[in-house]
Amino acid sequence: MNDFISLSHYSPSSRVLEGNRFLLGNGHLGYRGTFEEEGKAQMPGLNLVGVYDKAGNAWRESLNLPIPFCCRTFFSGKEQDCLTQEMASHRVRLDLEKGICLRESLFPSYSIRSERFVSQAQDNLLASSISMKAEEEGDFLFRFGLDLDIFECNGPHFPEKKVTRYPDFLLFEGKTNEGKTIYEAVSYLSSLEAKKEGESFFSAEGHLKKGELFSLQIISLVFEEKADFHAEIAKARQKGFEALKEEHVAAFSPLYRNAKIKLLGDEEGQKEGNYSIYMLLILGDKNRARSVPARGVSGQTYKGAIFWDSEIFLLPFFCLQEPQVARNLLKYRIATLEGAKAKAKEFGYQGAFFAWESQDSGLEACSKYNVTDYKTGKPIRTYFNEKQIHISADIAYAFENYQRLTGDSTLLEEGGMELLSEIVAFYRSYATFRNGAYHLDDVIGPDEYHERVNDNAFTNYMAAHAIGYAIEEAKRLGGKCLESVPGWEGFLQKLYLPKPNADGVIEQFEGYFQKEDCSLAEVRSRVKDPKQYWGGKDGPASPTQIIKQADVVAMLVLLGDEFDQKVKKANYDYYFPRTEHGSSLSSSMYSLLATQIGESEYAYSMYRKSASIDLYGEQKLYAGGIYIGGSHPASEGGAYLCLVYGFSGFEIEGERFALHPHLPRQIQGMEYSLSFRGKRYKITIQGNESSLEEVSL
Ligand code: BGC
Repeated sequence: MNDFISLSHYSPSSRVLEGNRFLLGNGHLGYRGTFEEEGKAQMPGLNLVGVYDKAGNAWRESLNLPIPFCCRTFFSGKEQDCLTQEMASHRVRLDLEKGICLRESLFPSYSIRSERFVSQAQDNLLASSISMKAEEEGDFLFRFGLDLDIFECNGPHFPEKKVTRYPDFLLFEGKTNEGKTIYEAVSYLSSLEAKKEGESFFSAEGHLKKGELFSLQIISLVFEEKADFHAEIAKARQKGFEALKEEHVAAFSPLYRNAKIKLLGDEEGQKEGNYSIYMLLILGDKNRARSVPARGVSGQTYKGAIFWDSEIFLLPFFCLQEPQVARNLLKYRIATLEGAKAKAKEFGYQGAFFAWESQDSGLEACSKYNVTDYKTGKPIRTYFNEKQIHISADIAYAFENYQRLTGDSTLLEEGGMELLSEIVAFYRSYATFRNGAYHLDDVIGPDEYHERVNDNAFTNYMAAHAIGYAIEEAKRLGGKCLESVPGWEGFLQKLYLPKPNADGVIEQFEGYFQKEDCSLAEVRSRVKDPKQYWGGKDGPASPTQIIKQADVVAMLVLLGDEFDQKVKKANYDYYFPRTEHGSSLSSSMYSLLATQIGESEYAYSMYRKSASIDLYGEQKLYAGGIYIGGSHPASEGGAYLCLVYGFSGFEIEGERFALHPHLPRQIQGMEYSLSFRGKRYKITIQGNESSLEEVSL
């Protein structure tokens, strides 16, 4: 039963995590796994990706829309709900292959069965079919409708909202603080006659005999612009729930079946891997030049913003499974180049300084005060937005990776080359020349705990790689950028790259080795509150060598060809005990390096950690007082990298790819398929042997 995720008890304290676990989505919309009668405390969410709004002085974030699938049941005047009533049985099941979430609960007086999906065939549609069976005879009242009391992190985002009742549907029109109107048209089809109740609810009542049913079908359509709502709803109603479900399944199942992975001998690892694949497939927007927020479609955490997570952790999965989505991820960066140029200008640099937290325009969404003091609740000054300059190089790296994996170079002619040239211009203007070399001073690397450091190895090497790639592409394409190449080459030759020391270890940044070399346990013992921020000016990790997440290790994974095994091993051994893994982005990078140096036990356990984060919910919910819950796409994308690049040893060699399997002892064999440069291959691995077969796309 690998392709289902299920739950058979109701635990009030886990509901927020389960909202992530049973997530549905299609890259454009996300629907959290809450139940019909639950409310704000369980953080329900119909999340719209890529549209943002700022309420007052609060953080600008993506939008949550009114929940269309609300339904409350009353028996003999008393509300029956999972929050207050004992249920004789309760089962939730997420069908990974179909992208459908099913709920069945048995209350003393009635049982409820609901089935819902967020359509992969029509990406503005979601639907639910709910049926309630009387378990005892009596008077029932059902209240259902559109919940206008939206759960929001930094709202309210719809200061102006109205609902119009048409005979066949309700139309919500919400105007954001920024003046954008979002429309949600919802049709309710109920088996009992329904009366209007309040602004956006209905009620239906009846005396039901034991075994009699009340059924409700809800179809909801979301629009970012005015449309012929009547015609759109009529079309969907005419098809009806079952046909819409079939269309959705026909669009989603092939994606899942193609992408899923078989791990022989390792059922648990396989289940977690396939769950990760499901969680990635619900994130891809095939139709718009948009990217994937750090918390995917699970809500507004992290402002619904796009981070380096997309380029480094998600892009390879989409290149190998849905290249069109990968292309959109990069088109989003081209579309937001002006924002990146404006940010560079604002800080006195040239070129493109991409936003650390990027929203629709590419302007910086990351606040100067991104965490709060656990004692006083006062904002703490952080420098992620101004100093995490590796983001621009990560984007260049992703363009190269996309090109190598898909064979598609056209993006470079569609604004990609300009983007690369602006990235080089940015690093040139950021660098300081001293002692005969260019240095990237005053930066933050992936390890965010150590702020404002000089020559962070990850940043310098990634910047150098980006410049090298830009030079190569400028030469290949000719044209205007060619004139810049000599200047870029001169800069690259003199860009300082920290070299491994006598033990083979690369210092994470200038002066890192002089920091207190204490254990992780020691730093933990100095933490005064679970919500205390470990980094920044006063954080307990800051004066020490304890780091938040893979930094040098991530660089060695991404630029693996540039370093030998000895250096990889030395750095793995050095940084491993000094890493908190305080970010879900960390484990997969360690797993990947561990595989390369033969530490397969660690490689395997860190793969499992990365793949299961949303399944078992072992994750930080707060960082420096700020709620950071939600799903973890980068961890799931990282898990996929562990399987494909790590265990199966996928490597690009020239125009082709090769496999050099390094299976951990827990996995006897693997089977999966991928797209590479327009062709699809089925891969089989048994022990150290691999074989591939071209299959139809
Ligand atoms: C990590 C970043 C990551 C962000 C969003 C932070 O906690 O340190 O590397 O980009 O979360 O996932």
